[in-house]
Amino acid sequence: MVIRLLFFVLFWVTAFGVAPEVSEPRPFFVFGDSLVDNGNNNYLFTGARADSPPYGIDTPLHLPTGRFSNGRTIPDILSEVIGSEPALPYLSPELTDKKLPLGANFASAGIGILNDTGMQFGNILRMPVQLEYFREYQRRLTSLVGQKQAKDIVNRALVLVSLGGNDFVNNYYLYPFSARSLQFTVPEYVIYLMSEYRKILKTMYNLGVRRAILMGSGPLGCAPGEIVQHSLDGECAPDLQAAAQIFEPQLAQMVQNLNHELGADVFVAANTKLMHNDIITNPQAFGFETSKTACCGLGPYNGIPGSCNPSSNLCNNRDKFVFWDSFHPTERASRLIVEQMMNGTDEYMKPMNLTTIMYLDSHM
Ligand SMILES: *[C@@H]1O[C@H](CO)[C@@H](O)[C@H](O)[C@H]1NC(C)=O
Ligand SMILES: *[C@@H]1O[C@H](CO)[C@@H](O)[C@H](O)[C@H]1NC(C)=O
Ligand SMILES: *[C@@H]1O[C@H](CO)[C@@H](O)[C@H](O)[C@H]1NC(C)=O
Repeated sequence: MVIRLLFFVLFWVTAFGVAPEVSEPRPFFVFGDSLVDNGNNNYLFTGARADSPPYGIDTPLHLPTGRFSNGRTIPDILSEVIGSEPALPYLSPELTDKKLPLGANFASAGIGILNDTGMQFGNILRMPVQLEYFREYQRRLTSLVGQKQAKDIVNRALVLVSLGGNDFVNNYYLYPFSARSLQFTVPEYVIYLMSEYRKILKTMYNLGVRRAILMGSGPLGCAPGEIVQHSLDGECAPDLQAAAQIFEPQLAQMVQNLNHELGADVFVAANTKLMHNDIITNPQAFGFETSKTACCGLGPYNGIPGSCNPSSNLCNNRDKFVFWDSFHPTERASRLIVEQMMNGTDEYMKPMNLTTIMYLDSHM
């Protein structure tokens, strides 16, 4: 395909003396937590990082990159889908002027919707900082390509946001009697989270975002890290599952109201709990051996949080595991999730799936 395109361009240039407009890949911006951080935390002083082996064991160089995966992550696979290369971490020196128009990844492991989430991880990029960096990015882009072009790049972009999971696991449920759990019941807490999430989304809209997929909280209680800490019988931890069960539909509802207010389907809620649940309830049907035990880690289910390191257990075949470490999916599980984002019904992707988004946006 690339070779054919190159031939075509060469032919065109030779025959007519001018290059035709080759369509640029769609710009891509990423915000949120460790499910989508692809290396920003490597540049920060924090324990929330994935920069030592065996993280990255299934990448082409078999080296850690800062991604919380054996290989590619959900945003990497979405970059493949839109025909681009993975968006670079905003803090990476590799994000040169030349790469800038392709987008950037602002995500930072450990953060949540709330500023007090992930406090134990120190100075990570909380949402106000990620949004400030997005403004800084736009200033840099503007000085490079001019205001009109820069605005167009941001408006045309696909955006991925992963927020909410840490507001439970690294805040409300972090210790018994946490400050937030004394302040709120779970249903009250979710209402508070939604009101804060909505403010973040409105800021994104004001900064030019016009199409964003929001990943839900996921099946929190089924992560090996939560089974270890919050389950008595080795099944998915019921309190965290119940919290996710409240969070996901309210996210879809908040998105529906916000889109209505904005007069356009700017935000799309991806029910990642449901997506994951299909796989977790019947891992064998998807070719996995287990969804309970992490590939990499220590302790029961290899689930002790933060225990995936050079001396921990490591499975041989990562494709047989749903979870890579105590919280994060393997590349293969991530691919299945992206397929559901692409082709899922509106139970999974509300109000529409990625196939529809890409069709609509290419016909604007
Ligand atoms: C979070 O921090 C930002 C900036 O430090 C602040 O503007 C915002 O009000 C804070 N949010 C909450 C809910 O406290
Ligand atoms: C999703 O849909 C696309 C296009 O219709 C197709 O090529 C792809 O194989 C589908 N994937 C799955 C998992 O159904
Ligand atoms: C989702 O994607 C598929 C294409 O793969 C499409 O046929 C389907 O109608 C889409 N929308 C919904 C709501 O299912």
